[in-house]
Amino acid sequence: MKIIDQVDLDGKRTFIRVDFNVPLEDQGGARRITDDSRIRGALPTIRHAIERGARVVLASHLGRPTGKVDPRESLAPAAKRLGELLGKPVALAPDCVGADAEKAVAALGRGDVLMLENLRFHGGEEKNDPTFAASLARLADVYVNDAFGAAHRAHASTAGMAALVPVRTSGFLLRDELQHLGALLDSPARPFVAILGGAKVSDKISVIDNLLPRVDALLIGGAMAYTFLRAQGSAIGGSRVEADKVDLARTTLEQAQARGVRLLLPLDHEIATRPEAGADCRTTSDAPIPDGWLGVDIGPKTRTSYAAEIAQARTVLWNGPMGIFEIEAYAAGTVAVAHAVANARQAFTVVGGGDSVAAVTQAGVADRIGHISTGGGASLEFLEGQTLPGVAALEG
Ligand code: 3PG
Repeated sequence: MKIIDQVDLDGKRTFIRVDFNVPLEDQGGARRITDDSRIRGALPTIRHAIERGARVVLASHLGRPTGKVDPRESLAPAAKRLGELLGKPVALAPDCVGADAEKAVAALGRGDVLMLENLRFHGGEEKNDPTFAASLARLADVYVNDAFGAAHRAHASTAGMAALVPVRTSGFLLRDELQHLGALLDSPARPFVAILGGAKVSDKISVIDNLLPRVDALLIGGAMAYTFLRAQGSAIGGSRVEADKVDLARTTLEQAQARGVRLLLPLDHEIATRPEAGADCRTTSDAPIPDGWLGVDIGPKTRTSYAAEIAQARTVLWNGPMGIFEIEAYAAGTVAVAHAVANARQAFTVVGGGDSVAAVTQAGVADRIGHISTGGGASLEFLEGQTLPGVAALEG
């Protein structure tokens, strides 16, 4: 796989597929970006292309408009934010293909930057339609993929068009993500501690399977912990559980034991009468959860025990919250893990997944994390050991 700094960009129409699928909120009738880290992540690649005299064409999806134009999912806020970060205007083409887009691209001078409108306003993007891919390829002399967050999608802009452009390369963000996440699978310094949370065992089971031969300890939190606790025969009250995954959880516990991996489950919990803000809430003294209550976060003993495991690690991977992190009263466990990961000074630390990344940002420790992944689904599929179509399209 070539990297962008290995090819000549001078005067070339350089089509960079970025992942500017950023969170937006309504503010005073306008759409405002609440987290611009994906835009910042692509800056080194975009700046490099500008400095090398490329005519820069940026393309991204935003949301899931499923082939229809939806002004609420316009990339206008992203183009504006990018312009602020670059300190130069970034025009937005009204469409990503067709005569208007081709005209706007043809008008670019060396070092100019144009953002195309949302790729998913066309159904051909997600269908990886060859005609749509060819329309995109008409805008490019060089194809660069820097959209790690979308690299698990075999879409026209991430897969189909790559073969139709004479030169294809990876951007710096995609390269760095693959290097850092790849190091976890290939050559992790030991002890390697993985912390996995989130709602469902089914979302993480393939990652657990792929990590078990590699890790020394696996710390489980979030609602998926209750499925594991039930598999161990522990009382879990009315906690969220995947009844059809209890056997799978039991098998995983047995496999961990057979491999000598310490699989840690919560020792205590924050419990509530309802999974909502304002519900009655208390801390259990140990693992069983009484009837009429449900687990909403890991408890203080668990936070201490998980922090101690993380403190002696040389490699740490964290993906997924420890509780209902979006409700402040149930966020302490997730925030404690954020601090523990940031404090693991002798470890190479990687954090992925929306809530975990939000937690390290909210805790003010993002700058003390070795690598924060910009990919949610993409980082999980990579850690499952899958080949990402967006990466495969750059190879050969
Ligand atoms: C993401 O946010 O995970 C990526 O941008 C991919 O988005 P998608 O799940 O809508 O394909």
